[in-house]
Amino acid sequence: MTEKEALQLDKKAKTAYQIFPLLQMRWSPRTFDEREITKKELNQLFEAARWAASSYNRQPWRFIYAEKGTESYDRVVSCLSDFNKQWATTAPILLLTAYKEKTENGDENFHALHDLGLSLGNMSVQAEHMGIAMHHMAGIDWKKAQEVFEVPEGFHITTAIAIGYYGGNPDSLPEDLKQQEMQPRSRNPITDFAFEGTWKSD
Ligand SMILES: Cc1cc2nc3c(=O)[nH]c(=O)nc-3n(C[C@H](O)[C@H](O)[C@H](O)COP(=O)(O)O)c2cc1C
Repeated sequence: MTEKEALQLDKKAKTAYQIFPLLQMRWSPRTFDEREITKKELNQLFEAARWAASSYNRQPWRFIYAEKGTESYDRVVSCLSDFNKQWATTAPILLLTAYKEKTENGDENFHALHDLGLSLGNMSVQAEHMGIAMHHMAGIDWKKAQEVFEVPEGFHITTAIAIGYYGGNPDSLPEDLKQQEMQPRSRNPITDFAFEGTWKSD
């Protein structure tokens, strides 16, 4: 077994109940294969996001993407936290996500973040199907990103996402991140968040 195969096996979720294999296999690497993501593949990811459910079909999600080697890519990198700058630059694509804050009536769209998240859920399953990994990042200076990309008022930058094919070499990471890369994935039990009939406090 190669190191790559061992890593993949270790990252597979040890589920309590059987789930869709693509969900079980998805994980968030900090190193990516060098293979580029084509425009067609990117559009397949956006198409998956496009068909997500959204409140009143408002589709409040927005994305700015940048390919490695371009000035836009460097501008996304300039908005990442120092922690994320350490590893995210191995990704062939960096994406900024945003949502539209208000409804057509000018009211706050309370469900816009929900809809953005759902579209990214769609995108991540499509990506997994294609052997592509997505690593979401809250660690960005979103105010700076709004300025750098001249995002108009009424839209809110939310996260950045590193996107690339699985298969990067963990040896390329700093030692602490390499250790994290090799760790098995874990989750809270279902009983911590799904309650029958009544709220359950800790
Ligand atoms: C909204 C969001 C923000 C995140 N922000 C970061 C981040 O800034 N840096 C980072 O290295 N990982 C970040 N992550 C990745 C999580 O740490 C990761 O999804 C979690 O540890 C579970 O690991 P898994 O995705 O491999 O199952 C983020 C994930 C999400 C969904």
